Amino acid sequence: MTNQVVIHADRPRGVIDRNIYGHFSEHLGRCIYEGLWVGEDSPIPNTNGIRNDVLDALRRMKIPVLRWPGGCFADEYHWKDGIGPREQRKRMINTHWGGVVENNHFGTHEFMMLCELLGCEPYINGNVGSGTVQEMSEWVEYLTFDGVSPMAELRKTNGREAPWKVKYFGVGNENWGCGGNMRPEYYADLYRQFQTYVRNYGDNRIHKIACGPSEGDYHWMETLMKQAGRFMDSITLHYYTLPGTWAEKGPATGFSEEEWSVTLKKAMHMEELISRHSAIMDQYDPDKRIGLIVDEWGTWYDVEPGTNPGFLYQQNTIRDALVAGMTLHIFHRHCDRVRMANIAQLVNVLQAVVLTEGEKMLLTPTYHVFEMFKVHHDAELLDTHERIGTIGGGANELPHVSVSASRDAEGRIHVSLCNLDHQAGASVRIELRGLAEGNVSASGKTLTADRIDGHNTFDSPERVAPKPFADFTIEGNALAATVPPMSVTVLELIAD
Ligand code: AHR
Repeated sequence: MTNQVVIHADRPRGVIDRNIYGHFSEHLGRCIYEGLWVGEDSPIPNTNGIRNDVLDALRRMKIPVLRWPGGCFADEYHWKDGIGPREQRKRMINTHWGGVVENNHFGTHEFMMLCELLGCEPYINGNVGSGTVQEMSEWVEYLTFDGVSPMAELRKTNGREAPWKVKYFGVGNENWGCGGNMRPEYYADLYRQFQTYVRNYGDNRIHKIACGPSEGDYHWMETLMKQAGRFMDSITLHYYTLPGTWAEKGPATGFSEEEWSVTLKKAMHMEELISRHSAIMDQYDPDKRIGLIVDEWGTWYDVEPGTNPGFLYQQNTIRDALVAGMTLHIFHRHCDRVRMANIAQLVNVLQAVVLTEGEKMLLTPTYHVFEMFKVHHDAELLDTHERIGTIGGGANELPHVSVSASRDAEGRIHVSLCNLDHQAGASVRIELRGLAEGNVSASGKTLTADRIDGHNTFDSPERVAPKPFADFTIEGNALAATVPPMSVTVLELIAD
């Protein structure tokens, strides 16, 4: 059947916050060290120690916000270990991830420099699990205080005269698990206490982020909203897509057709999680002052054979591109509540947009989705009505396509389409309503592969890359397209 989509160009439904396209970088495996930081003396071309190839790729993708230093690492991180002359910084074991040496060469100054080079907002995650109120409070003072104070003086001694601007600050990570195994009642009280000393200095205004639930832990959400809602600006949600179980997650490549469907089905569960958590938030915050930040999401597979299990290194295929596209569409639909999301993680860990191997770098299919979808950043979400067929059956029945439409500041309409069927193309008829009469012109790009685990390698880094898409006809205000099997497509429609 032909899938039918009506886009109501005269019915905007809110703004798609660019921060929904955010990322996450943790001291885990080769994310920070090698993936981002190679050091000033490295033979790999770099800017003040940050590798140039990754920097350029992330700039092209227009990364809006970056979370650091964890993850579970955040609640073991003591920020003073990562300041001052690098050769004098403490060497220690990264006990949570891989048991490798952490030399603390990438710390506060390096992270803030990275964000400045990228032109993105920093999102710093503080330590509640093994840190103190004073330690967190002093970190904020070190970062943002402009005046006479011990931490401002220390910052200046370390070479940074002016304070930085820090908007996003997280008070703990996964405090129901690696961040202290707390009960929500206990964490809610700790959150209230810690956040009191996360101060606004000068004109810096901190958006305080509370640790929210894992997946469907609605009790955690209810408790936090009830007991600490008035002290927070946002609350987090973590949800990972695993085709299998935590013990046997399934491979990143070489998977079966069934694993294709199961993975996409499980990724769709994000819709239910956001709807149900939002319903709880609505009870305590009907004006939607508090944002929901999905600051960890993405696919999690078995690590690549032969790699350190604590490094969480996995390949990335066209299946991941579809998970990314569909999930971003879910965030669009909930843009009234979801104000930020951070895919895990930026480089070399889980559903990464970039993989590196020594001096080599490749862009994953997930990267290309983020790059193609940047047209949705801060655009107005448009109301759509859809009649979409299904594929598969039983427990793994899936919608044939996932669609989202937005209008940017220049009036261009962008429609993104994910065809979840790996076997056949999808016919889609898109009708634009609510526009003044006129001609519609269109152009497009599509990302697809020739097999369900199509991916890029360091020897063939361009195997899965976007191509121009022109398989459509336009009649009046309607466009009929046939998008390829297992594809993510973005169309630009201009009405004149
Ligand atoms: O992203 C990997 C880990 O997953 C993070 O450190 C943690 O917060 C989550 O459990």
